[in-house]
Amino acid sequence: MRTCYTGEVNKNYLDQQVSLFGWVHRRRDHGGVIFIDLRDRAGLAQVVVNPDNEAGFAIAERIRNEFCIRVTGVVRQRPEGTINPDLASGEVEVVCDEIEILNPSVTPAFQLDDDNLSETTRLTHRVLDLRRPQMQQNLMLRHQVSRQVRNFLDNQGFIDIETPMLTRSTPEGARDYLVPSRVHPGEFFALPQSPQLFKQMLMVSGFDRYYQIVKCFRDEDLRADRQPEFTQIDCETSFLNEEQIREIFEGMVRHVFTSVLQVELPDPFPCMTWHEAIRRFGSDKPDLRVSLELVDVDDVLKDVNFKVFAGPANDPASRVVAMRVPGGGVLPRSEIDAYTKFVGIYGAKGLAYIKVNDATTIPGGLQSPIVKNIHDDALKAIMERTQAQDGDLIFFGADKASIVNDAMGALRVKIGHSDFGRENGLFHDGWKPLWVVDFPMFEYDEDERRWFAAHHPFTSPKDGHEDRLESDPASVLAKAYDMVLNGWEIGGGSVRIHRADVQEKVFKALNISEEEAREKFGFLLDALQYGAPPHGGVAFGLDRLVTIMAGADSIRDVIAFPKTQRAQCLLTHAPSSVDDKQLRELHIRVRAADIKIE
Ligand code: AMO
Ligand code: AMP
Repeated sequence: MRTCYTGEVNKNYLDQQVSLFGWVHRRRDHGGVIFIDLRDRAGLAQVVVNPDNEAGFAIAERIRNEFCIRVTGVVRQRPEGTINPDLASGEVEVVCDEIEILNPSVTPAFQLDDDNLSETTRLTHRVLDLRRPQMQQNLMLRHQVSRQVRNFLDNQGFIDIETPMLTRSTPEGARDYLVPSRVHPGEFFALPQSPQLFKQMLMVSGFDRYYQIVKCFRDEDLRADRQPEFTQIDCETSFLNEEQIREIFEGMVRHVFTSVLQVELPDPFPCMTWHEAIRRFGSDKPDLRVSLELVDVDDVLKDVNFKVFAGPANDPASRVVAMRVPGGGVLPRSEIDAYTKFVGIYGAKGLAYIKVNDATTIPGGLQSPIVKNIHDDALKAIMERTQAQDGDLIFFGADKASIVNDAMGALRVKIGHSDFGRENGLFHDGWKPLWVVDFPMFEYDEDERRWFAAHHPFTSPKDGHEDRLESDPASVLAKAYDMVLNGWEIGGGSVRIHRADVQEKVFKALNISEEEAREKFGFLLDALQYGAPPHGGVAFGLDRLVTIMAGADSIRDVIAFPKTQRAQCLLTHAPSSVDDKQLRELHIRVRAADIKIE
């Protein structure tokens, strides 16, 4: 039996004999004395093997990195000057009496403390990568978060109920992962994009409060915050309105932060409408740690002799915004050029700017290639509205509203997070949660020329908006909300439609015919007819929440076995081809042409 984890050996064990199990993190031969840094999930302990322990020393000489070993020895104070304050066990060391190699290791594919490993190396050798202290801490943090989520929800009367993995396509909007049926030739299950419809039906069945920490599957383009399979904390409640639902779940997030990180989040969380978020930050998940804001200037630029501005200023589907960067006058031309290139990624055709040398002298105090094209009244209005001061820089975005929002919203974050932004007080580190509410019910898809549900088609319109579902869908707001933390969307949900007649209207607005609705969601529509209670809920992205709490850059760092950006597992080499027999059983034939493209 081990006495304790190696990382837990400390002064409390002084002069006691301990028995430890773990892996050799490092072995140092100090001319006659061998030091072993022994590692387990709790951390490191230093083991000293003296040459007068002949048997032990002979074994220690054969030991290499990542061998799995057992050590018994007596804990003593480290000599003066060798204390390591970074380790919990840093004041003591274990003088080895007995050492046993439980299993040797081949030479590891990389040094565990190498900070410059490529992600390919790490994911290919994930077993070793997961031995690294940082990854061990990330996964233990993840465990703490889900444990505290369960604690909180259990205390609030939520019941954990499993829902099927082999199911029908759900309407979350991404592409489905399909599973062919052997028993029913030509038919397919879909892996759930979320348990959305099942949790609604559980409300109709009367469970009142449901939750599940559950895998969801979406075949979409991957990014740092997206995986093809990810985990939701999925929740649903009956008989509560929007505010009451939000209150419960921000309580959950507050509880997780106090219990796991000892961090107090604001109570209540600030709340902002979707329209305000887009107007001020160009984003429905604004990073409120950045103090920069967008200011609308369409109205003052309608009549300027500069097409780049006047065009969008006179087009209702477009937007012209100014963003004041305090102190930005010092930014060199090269940096402005780099930002111009950056906004290009989002479709912006340029990035006009004005350098404010003297805010009181217009136009003489303003330095910019565009000033000559803008009359003084407009310049004055811009200065007033942005509250620009001497030494500031003002950036402009003018284009279709969606391009301006994406480009200027991203620029805002980019400048805020830059060295310049951090040094000039444009970034305030800390935890900035936010509810974004009153989302539009529908989004128009220009390519397909039709309306789509912004959240999903079971989201309830705001009270009083039902009548405009068909006549003016663009103006309809939904009882939908997202929780945002430091610029990440960590959760989203809504109050659902619980009446079949309203649900039918929404399908109509979405151009979903009665037959199609019956074919796809008939089981839900039927369920709604049996006295469905008013209900609503939310789902949090557990991977995202833990990533932010761990201070990691990518959700791949808090998932034990993640996929690459190309949706592959480098460890198991999934996906892989399968043999013909398996395909035949599933009534599937692979088209040779598709394989060649690969
Ligand atoms: P939604 O689609 O907004 O809502 O998803 C909820 C939360 O899940 C996380 N998330 C992801 N995390 C990692 N990788 C992905 N590919 C990914 N996609 C989503 C996000 C997001 O906020 N059924 C509804 C919820 C509801 O209405 O109750 C739903 O799935 O953090
Ligand atoms: P141009 O007249 O195209 O040379 O552009 C003059 C200035 O306006 C340059 O600084 C461009 O970067 C900027 N600019 C051009 N198009 C846009 C746009 N859509 N939004 C903001 N600035 C732009």
